[in-house]
Amino acid sequence: MDHYKELVDAAIAARKMAYTPYSNFKVGAALQTKSGKIYQGCNIENATYTPTNCAERTAFFKAVSEGEHDFECIAIVGGKGDSISGKICPPCGVCRQVMMEFCDPESFQVILVKNADEWEVHTLRELLPFGFGPANLSE
Ligand code: THU
Repeated sequence: MDHYKELVDAAIAARKMAYTPYSNFKVGAALQTKSGKIYQGCNIENATYTPTNCAERTAFFKAVSEGEHDFECIAIVGGKGDSISGKICPPCGVCRQVMMEFCDPESFQVILVKNADEWEVHTLRELLPFGFGPANLSE
């Protein structure tokens, strides 16, 4: 699936910016809008731990803070240290919920990267079945 190669490379590049003095677990994300723009994000840790922000949410919050609300897909790559582990890094529950706020779970694609040439693709619905979203608040 060469289709996602540019986004995968952007996630791998974003991972280099991860600020992880506590876990050394470095995550990169690249979020693509429906218009084709890419927003990169990395995880940002904190000495008091709880304010830590995941890579996925960094990418979403960068995009939303610039007026973007329409998203196509996100690539995510993570692992310990500087080299890529080859294992997928599934998004945490909080990040899945943030995706649910802005994305159609049936069509939004989550690309879980193993390495620069291998990844798996899931819909948000697969990762968050029965998720609660904005539609649940409307009558
Ligand atoms: N982390 C992410 O950035 N995204 C994920 O999908 C999973 C976890 C970060 C948070 C923390 O900085 C480190 O990885 C270890 O949990």
